Amino acid sequence: MAEFEPVLLAHIERSGSHTLDVYQSAGGYATLRRVLAEMQPHGVVEVVKSSSLRGRGGAGFPTGLKWTFLPKDHPGPIYMCINADESEPGTFNNRVLMEEDPHQMIEGAILACYATRATTAYLYLRYEYPLCLERLQAALDECYAAGLLGENILGSGYSLNIYIHRGAAAYICGEETGLIESLEGKRAWPRIKPPFPAVEGVFHKPTVINNVETLCCVKHIVERGADWFKSIGVPPDPNNPRDAGSYGPKLYCLSGHVNRPGCYEAPLGITCRELIEEFGGGVWKGRQAKAAIPGGISMGLLTADELDTPLDFSGPGKVGCLGLGTAAVVVMDETVSMVDFLYNSTRFFKHESCGQCTPCREGTGWALDMLRRIKAGRGRLVDLDLLLEIGDSIGIIPGTTICGLADGAAWPIKNAIRKFRGEFEDYIKHTNPQGYMVTDPVPLELAGAHE
Ligand SMILES: Cc1cc2nc3c(=O)[nH]c(=O)nc-3n(C[C@H](O)[C@H](O)[C@H](O)COP(=O)(O)O)c2cc1C
Ligand code: SF4
Repeated sequence: MAEFEPVLLAHIERSGSHTLDVYQSAGGYATLRRVLAEMQPHGVVEVVKSSSLRGRGGAGFPTGLKWTFLPKDHPGPIYMCINADESEPGTFNNRVLMEEDPHQMIEGAILACYATRATTAYLYLRYEYPLCLERLQAALDECYAAGLLGENILGSGYSLNIYIHRGAAAYICGEETGLIESLEGKRAWPRIKPPFPAVEGVFHKPTVINNVETLCCVKHIVERGADWFKSIGVPPDPNNPRDAGSYGPKLYCLSGHVNRPGCYEAPLGITCRELIEEFGGGVWKGRQAKAAIPGGISMGLLTADELDTPLDFSGPGKVGCLGLGTAAVVVMDETVSMVDFLYNSTRFFKHESCGQCTPCREGTGWALDMLRRIKAGRGRLVDLDLLLEIGDSIGIIPGTTICGLADGAAWPIKNAIRKFRGEFEDYIKHTNPQGYMVTDPVPLELAGAHE
């Protein structure tokens, strides 16, 4: 990997890195001061647009372009939602940023709000992050006291309030319209789109939603310029007119069976193998990697032969995964059973499905029932085809559901069975050699309900 100077994590080792004093002593809020004095909002949008920054929350949508979807000359109010729900399994980069360097994110958020003319921002924070809550609230209080938030920020005439809203501890609250519903005090049921939040979001007003890491990138892009940002990462694939490139630094969360799990910063495009070897110190206990989740559990699986896949926005898709997702890599060594992996992953999605869409609600339920039966030694080979049929039929990509949770449930099924079919077949043949259709005795606690 070429020489790379970390940016997003540059200050987290400093004592008191979460305080305003330490942040300002390293030049913090100088960019905000300059922008408020010298730049118009549309100028900030242009810099971010020309940087080709893509959202870090999972979908990789171009940030500057999303901002331009807000209605022009809207009389207001316009809202910003900072998505800090961070519910994708294996993902903890937002937590590190908020605990260790909350002002970096706040400066990025103020710049983003100024650019989009938002005057109120809601920070939707994962419920299980108490230290983030404590440090973010302290950081916001420091900003209000220093005139960096509130009425007439630094005498610029621009005013902004940021409020923290604790999440409802469910995966679906991270989906942007589920988040909006939850923020409004309702059950986090994703909305049918269109209208998209940029047109009708929080309280039915135009709303921008961005991830914590995306906003941290905004701060550095406005400070150092679009060309600096585009000097890091991977340019668009000339053979793919739909590829917008994968520029900038990225935080990769590495966990599972590696020697040194952690949150690491690298240029977009590092391969999964480089991440495991150079940052993670290799697979633990001298074992071999069997598979890795490339970007959160909903992205599917890389096999050991696919570990040289670049972890940029298009790399994992080229080997049949859903995408880069949150860039949370979970490594599984050779002792892991793929039957167990798929059972656990499906159990998670079944539990987290909000239940609005029949393919998602029923598909995850039936898939879990079959996997439970397979795991318990009552599986049949035909079950694998039935599971694939479910995997291929649920989600936004086949066009059958409101939100992407169903795609996230489907991809592990599709990848695990297609890439590790032999292991599933061996398991079934070994545990149910006659291929009997033995019905599942219903455990008492589950009678009448799915798990
Ligand atoms: C089921 C589901 C869960 C999601 N959870 C999160 C989350 O925890 N944090 C996040 O930033 N985005 C999450 N997203 C993506 C958001 O809907 C949205 O695309 C993102 O917050 C936009 O920010 P960005 O453009 O800065 O990436 C989730 C999407 C789905 C379908
Ligand atoms: S896809 Fe699943 S989680 Fe998303 S809205 Fe439909 S039922 Fe709810």
